[in-house]
Amino acid sequence: MHVAESVTTAPATNPPVRAGLEGVIAAETRLSEVDGAHGKLTIAGFPVEVLAARAGFEEVAYLLLYGALPTRTQLDAFATTLVEHRPLPAPTLALLAAAAQRSVPPMDALRMAAGTFDLDLSDAGDDAVAAALLARMPVAVAAYARLLQDAPPVPPDPTLGHAANFLYMLQDDVPTDAAARALETYLITVVDHGLNASTFAARVIIATRSDLVSAVAGALGALKGPLHGGAPGPALDMVFEIGDAARAEPFLRAKLDRGERLMGFGHRVYKVRDPRADVLSRAAQELFAIADAQDANRQLYALTRAVEESAVTLLAEYKPGRNLQTNVEFYTALLLHGLGLPTDLFTPTFAVGRTAGWLAHCREQQATGRLIRPSSRYVGAFDTPWVEVDAR
Ligand code: ACO
Repeated sequence: MHVAESVTTAPATNPPVRAGLEGVIAAETRLSEVDGAHGKLTIAGFPVEVLAARAGFEEVAYLLLYGALPTRTQLDAFATTLVEHRPLPAPTLALLAAAAQRSVPPMDALRMAAGTFDLDLSDAGDDAVAAALLARMPVAVAAYARLLQDAPPVPPDPTLGHAANFLYMLQDDVPTDAAARALETYLITVVDHGLNASTFAARVIIATRSDLVSAVAGALGALKGPLHGGAPGPALDMVFEIGDAARAEPFLRAKLDRGERLMGFGHRVYKVRDPRADVLSRAAQELFAIADAQDANRQLYALTRAVEESAVTLLAEYKPGRNLQTNVEFYTALLLHGLGLPTDLFTPTFAVGRTAGWLAHCREQQATGRLIRPSSRYVGAFDTPWVEVDAR
């Protein structure tokens, strides 16, 4: 093989490449602040613990989208708009049915479905499309879950709120107030989180003056990855595999010896325990405490706490100075499992909550009017001599 001669030159004064963009501030936002050093998450002015305990999901979505808490009248009107937008367009349902026949993974089906959420809304404007994306996300997740089980989708119940209706459509049963509230707490807890990967993806897309549907479909693609929203399923699998608190240490040690990552631990920004893990662990404890029949969940809660303790200790031993602590995904798994959701719906359910944040970020980005276009450093060759194909 003929190797062409080439020259690589790199100017000596280049600034360092920030491969993961750590520390690069690419946007101003009023939506959320992640204080990684102190483990504090502020969402549109409120500590996450306050919103998780006091607010409804629709209230928080309104707060993000419109910049202030709604009055009763505004909240009722917003909730009604969401209810009106819940029914899926017929082609979306057909697409989901075809995907279920091929057993397409739920996140892939959701990404495809989201791309069709505005089919019945031509020229309706961004507010209507945003309402449709927000309202239809849980409807599509629930419909797809039913189709995967060869069951017909349950039509939305207009008398139920966003979280309760999602559980109702999934389980064909009106949820208890406690279950609906536990899910609502989860959806609020994950609603927004600074410039995380999926939110950044959404902002990059909308900044090109593309559309909201494309931005949300792109965000879904980013959320799917195991380093972002795809971790809770594997985190729960790990707890189940451990099975007994006494096995936690040897099991986790063996994983770390093999150089594997422990799912549900570590975070790019939090260097202390993720505050969302606290909120969700409390929500899981409350949910599991109320029903006598949920003994198995209570045992699972105790096992999860034991696994967490062991994992954090071992991570400090194996990765000293890295401050690898529990992240949101660990207790997400426990809570959603306790609500009866199968593991393959954990990431889609994350998307149901985060859609409000994506849409609000898109709004902010649109207001700046600025294309996001970072630079790269070329590390390839220059002036390579061309060699014809048959001579290579
Ligand atoms: N288990 C074991 N080791 C870990 C873990 C983990 N969970 N997380 C990081 N490390 C190690 C890395 O191997 C690396 O070690 P090295 O320096 O010896 O090579 C060191 O800690 C630093 O890791 P980075 O990859 O630089 O950290 P980064 O900030 O990029 O990673 C991430 C953050 C991706 C979340 C990482 O901690 C991880 O992979 N965690 C497991 C997956 C997970 O839980 N994802 C959900 C995140 S929360 C969310 O997105 C909603």
